[in-house]
Amino acid sequence: MNQKRRLIGRRSFLFGLGSLATMSAVATSKAAYQNQQIQALDNPNRNFIISEGLSLKERAAKKGIIYGAAAHNIALSSDASYAAAIVQNCGVLVPELEFKWTAGNATLRPSPDRFDFSKADWMANFAKTHSLLLRAHTLVWHDSLPTWFDKTVNSHNAAQLLENHIQTVVKRYAGKIHSWDVVNEAIQPEDGRNDGLRMTSWLKVLGQNYIDLAFRLTAAADPKALLVYNDFGLDYDTPDQEARRTAVLKLLERLRTKGTPIHALGIQAHLSPGEKKFNPSKLRKFLQDVASMGLKIMITEMDVVDKKLPIDVKVRDRIIAGVYEDYLSTVLDEKAVIAVITWGLSDRYSYVNESQPRSDRAPVRPLPLDAQMQHKLAWNAIARAFDHAPKRN
Ligand code: XIL
Repeated sequence: MNQKRRLIGRRSFLFGLGSLATMSAVATSKAAYQNQQIQALDNPNRNFIISEGLSLKERAAKKGIIYGAAAHNIALSSDASYAAAIVQNCGVLVPELEFKWTAGNATLRPSPDRFDFSKADWMANFAKTHSLLLRAHTLVWHDSLPTWFDKTVNSHNAAQLLENHIQTVVKRYAGKIHSWDVVNEAIQPEDGRNDGLRMTSWLKVLGQNYIDLAFRLTAAADPKALLVYNDFGLDYDTPDQEARRTAVLKLLERLRTKGTPIHALGIQAHLSPGEKKFNPSKLRKFLQDVASMGLKIMITEMDVVDKKLPIDVKVRDRIIAGVYEDYLSTVLDEKAVIAVITWGLSDRYSYVNESQPRSDRAPVRPLPLDAQMQHKLAWNAIARAFDHAPKRN
């Protein structure tokens, strides 16, 4: 018996060793592939030379494109250098927190029957003072909901609560908003529904028609604003992002067929080089499919996540700039793309610091300006993409 136990023990030990060896081989090959990808991304001879003088918003405007950035009241009210950079570079401002139900220091909805417009008003006033277009984000999202939401909202009161929210908030700024992200991130094919919708609190209490309802309520409250459906994970040539693109097209087709007042698709474009394969022709085909429905397209939250990139700032900035220029030169070929918005303007205030920090804890560098508000190669890359883009009619 003991001999048998020893034999089984030895076999399981050897099996364990074998699986460890296999796991480390897989890890090594994955790391090797990613290193190969990184090397393929970096071209030391690539320059990002630009003609001097014009800001990003001026270069974009020359082609009929709007450029802007997200920013929040905390940075804009406390950091004069950042406020100045936003005003100099941006044609549109997107409040990063203040038009959500609750986010950061902004609590638009402190309770089911109250609104606190102080931070949203501050941002709207900042935009007006500096002649910036104002893009509002977002009326209906599964995230940034106040703690009272799930405890309070049910299938009996949800429609009334949504109607009250949209009518109160949208009417307050009616005529002042360039575009509303009416619904944000409603797609999640992994949730297993035939329609590819995400199983959100909104879907559970209102069914799939919550999206159509939100757009109709917003259109009634502000007939002037462009009404946008906004989502992420639509950029790369991977099976999961192909599924996301398919689900978005299915949603947009359904809304258009129902006569839902929707004007544009917002593509967040949080890019991640070294992780997923970029296929310009696949992305271009998706944009053409969206445009063929008569919809405009906005790149709404662009940044380049650098957690997989080398720590060397010179190399990292060069790769990031290449990603910006390659992506934007692809999307701006499609004239239905009317705006490019980066999710922040300076690395000092990028949400990537909190959402996707580097394992080596080196400061992230995802945006056009560095933490000292100086132009990076990414700024040049965006400028080049605008300079080379076809002019919109
Ligand atoms: C993020 C903000 O940048 C953060 O400051 C906040 O804490 C959470 O939300 N997709 C979106 C944005 O649509 O609203 C998110 O913004 C980033 C991901």
